[in-house]
Amino acid sequence: MVETIQPARALQGSIRLPGDKSISHRYGMLAAIAEGDSRIHNYSQGADCQSTLACMRALGVEIEADGPETLIHGVGLDGLKAPAAMLDAGNSGSTIRMLSGILAAQTFTTRITGDESLSRRPMGRVITPLTQMGARIEARDGMYPPLAIHGSQLRAIDYHLPVASAQVKSCVLFAGLFCEGVTTVHETLPTRDHSEIALRQFGAEVESVRGAVSIHGRPALRGRELAVPGDLSSAAFFLAAALLVPGSRIAIQGVGLNPTRSALMDFLAAGGAPLRVLNIGESCGELVGDILVEYAPWRGGILEKSTAAALIDEIPVLAVLGASSRDGLIVRDAAELRVKETDRIATVAENLRRMGVAITVHDDGFEVPGNQTFHSAELDSFTDHRIAMAFSVAALAAGGPCRVLNAEAASVSFPEFYNMLRSLGG
Ligand code: S3P
Repeated sequence: MVETIQPARALQGSIRLPGDKSISHRYGMLAAIAEGDSRIHNYSQGADCQSTLACMRALGVEIEADGPETLIHGVGLDGLKAPAAMLDAGNSGSTIRMLSGILAAQTFTTRITGDESLSRRPMGRVITPLTQMGARIEARDGMYPPLAIHGSQLRAIDYHLPVASAQVKSCVLFAGLFCEGVTTVHETLPTRDHSEIALRQFGAEVESVRGAVSIHGRPALRGRELAVPGDLSSAAFFLAAALLVPGSRIAIQGVGLNPTRSALMDFLAAGGAPLRVLNIGESCGELVGDILVEYAPWRGGILEKSTAAALIDEIPVLAVLGASSRDGLIVRDAAELRVKETDRIATVAENLRRMGVAITVHDDGFEVPGNQTFHSAELDSFTDHRIAMAFSVAALAAGGPCRVLNAEAASVSFPEFYNMLRSLGG
């Protein structure tokens, strides 16, 4: 699908975003292995989170879904069944990595694969800890999907994460559910803690102390009613759009503001973005609120170390915003960008250059000077959802119409994106 995007005058209005992708995955997996029913409101309709539900169904879990209203009939810790065929995680790194922790503890073997992009993404990061716990996992070239996960009775371990990754942390914690004793994951940089919060919601005992998260094995997980907050990583595209297009004013309601995700707000505010957060509350252990954003010239900034890790998903759209900012954007310590759905350093650079925007690329980041203008161009998502949306936002500020090829990739996390953008005047 090709989207043609005209330069925008001003974006105005109020939106409520679909459910957070990270939280939806976790609720989908944990509800499936809890005892009893879980009713989940605002479950993400993105293809990634639907891949998680499809895998859980193939493992014998009954799931009723009416759009974002999802009812999962949990089968308990020992209730999953051997799937009849290879599981398909689609484009979703979260599905294959986090679910591997659960599959490694089963009494059967599961084969799981994904699309072309996922088949190139590294799985050694989950194979290593799960092998230490006692699972046997075969992978293409030792590290790529498809995986054959031969489950077994796992042993609790103490694991130091070599990369800052919430998916890997979650994988080990989910495996720890099936072990006798306490499994601990140590992280040098903090990553999103949705798994810890979700596990507690389902009744697991989880302790987090100074960079270490511990889970007590064999808890009684109980199904429950949950609501997924709006996705802050999806909100990022509208925040950036409002800061790019003069005269914009957007209210975003019911967004998840978990402190391990909201570094985006601090980073934008530090560069002069007039953001206001209203109606802060709590929902199922997660912080939630409304965000009001208005156009103001943004100054830009430097993203490095823990901030680069905390904002890893938002970097493509921040690169776009950086090009029009006063001082530009510098990104360092973000080599993980190279192993996302695409090599996001390469795909960001390619699209910016097509728009006539200068960028200097490094192994672990890039520099985008400020004060640049976007020219009309033919852009490409390269089948990466965040690249589709980031460059659709860039197109709003271009000198003429832009075409975005493979724009349907947005539906991996945010199928409603283009309609919402239109509803704001884009
Ligand atoms: C996610 C963690 C991050 C992020 C991804 C979602 C999660 O990946 O980029 O979009 O839900 O835990 P890594 O764990 O690979 O850093």
